[in-house]
Amino acid sequence: MSEVILKPVKTPVSGEIHVPGDKSISHRSVMLASLAEGETTVTNFLDGEDCMRTVQAFQEMGVEIKKQNTTLTIQGNGIAGLKEPENPLYFGNSGTTARLMIGLLAGLPLFTTIYGDSSLSKRPMDRVIKPLRQMGAVIDGREKGSYIPLSLRGSKLQGIDYVMPLKSAQVKSAVLLAGLHAEGATKITERTKTRDHTENMLKAFGASIKTEGKQVTITNEKTLVATDVHVPGDISSAAFFIAAALIVPGSKLTLKNVGLNQTRTGIIDVLISMGANIQIRNKQTISGELLGDIIVSYSKLTGTTIGGEIIPRLIDEIPILALIATQAEGTTIIKDAKELRVKETDRIAAVDDVLSTLGATIEPTEDGMKIHGEAKLHGGKATSYHDHRIAMMAAIASLIAEDEVVIDDISSISISYPSFFEDLKKIK
Ligand code: S3P
Repeated sequence: MSEVILKPVKTPVSGEIHVPGDKSISHRSVMLASLAEGETTVTNFLDGEDCMRTVQAFQEMGVEIKKQNTTLTIQGNGIAGLKEPENPLYFGNSGTTARLMIGLLAGLPLFTTIYGDSSLSKRPMDRVIKPLRQMGAVIDGREKGSYIPLSLRGSKLQGIDYVMPLKSAQVKSAVLLAGLHAEGATKITERTKTRDHTENMLKAFGASIKTEGKQVTITNEKTLVATDVHVPGDISSAAFFIAAALIVPGSKLTLKNVGLNQTRTGIIDVLISMGANIQIRNKQTISGELLGDIIVSYSKLTGTTIGGEIIPRLIDEIPILALIATQAEGTTIIKDAKELRVKETDRIAAVDDVLSTLGATIEPTEDGMKIHGEAKLHGGKATSYHDHRIAMMAAIASLIAEDEVVIDDISSISISYPSFFEDLKKIK
C-alpha cells in the first residue's frame, strides 16, 4: 500500500501536458503486431502495468518484443506462429488483456491457462466465453468458465452471426480476434456502437474486415502484414487534467496529441453541453486514429443527464465526470451505466464512497448516480479500492478541497498513468 497526503492547493493549474499513450490502442498494437508477418514499431506505447501484461504474454509465447522507453519493436511470428506457453499467463488487473486474449487464443492450436489478480478474478468472463463457445471454442474455468483462472484448448472455430447483448468493445474485439481464425465469416451487430480501435487496427494490418454502421464482418485471414503504429494520447487519462482545468478557478491547460476517435469523445460532448470552454486544435489522423490538442479553461458548469447511446463513449470517464459534476450548478444524473458495477471495482459504490467522504452529495442508483452540485469539498481520507481511475479522481479532487486529501493507496495509478503525479506537479 502506498498512501499519499495531498495538501490543499487553491492556485490555478496551467501549462501543457502530453498524456501517455492510449491503453486500448496499446494493447491491440501488441496483439496484432505479434500475429503479423514482419517487424512493427509502436511509438508512444503506454508502458503502464496493464499493457505490459499483454507484452509479457506474447513474449512468453515466443514473440520477440524489444522496448525502449515508449517505443516497442515487435517481430511478428505470423498468424499461427505463437508458441505454447510453458506456464500460466498472468494478466494482473487487466480486463482488456484477459478478454481479448481469450478470443485471440481460442482458435490457435495451443493449450493456455490464464489468471489474474483478485479484482480480475471477480470480473465476468462469460460475456466472451458464450459467443466463443458458439464458435466452437473449448474453454473451462471457475463456475463453468465464468471467471478466471480459465484454461483454453485452441480448436477449430466457425464464424458466427452475433448480436451483442452488451455494450462492450472487449466482447466485440474478442469475437473479432477469434474470427481471424474461424472458418467462414464472423458478423457482429452492436445495438450501441462501442470503441472501434480493433476494427481500425485490423484494417491497418490488412485483415478482411468491413464495417457497415453498427455491423462488422471479418473473414478468416491467412496473413496480417506488419504496420507501424503511433499510439495517440489516452483521452481517458487526459480526462483527469480536463477536470483539473475545469474545476480550479483561473486555470487553463493544453493537452497535446490526444486521441479523438468519435467512439471515445463522449466526455468532451457532455462537458461542452454543461458549459465547458473546450477547444480542439491541430487535428490529424495517424495510424487510422484521429488525434489533436485539447485546450480547456476553468468554466461555470451546469448539471446534465448522461445516459443511453453516449455511455460507451465515456464509460471510463464516469468517475472523473462525477467529480466535475459536484462543481456544476444543479443536479447531474448518470444512468444506463450498470457496467460500472463490474469494472476494476464497483465504480458506482466507489465514486459514491470517495466523493461523499470528501464532502459531496451523491445518490447512488442501480445503474448510475445523482450528483448534487455545487458542493464544497472539505477533504478527508479516500479509499481507492485499488482502482486507478478512483485514485486519480481523488487526487484531482484534492485541488479544490478545503483541507488535505489522503489517498490510502496510489499504487494502482501505474496501471494506466505511471507519470500521473509528475504531470500533476508540472501544472501546479
Ligand atoms: C476497453 C473497453 C471498455 C473499457 C475498458 C477498455 C477496451 O470495456 O471500459 O477500459 O480496450 O476494449 P468494456 O468492453 O467492458 O465496456
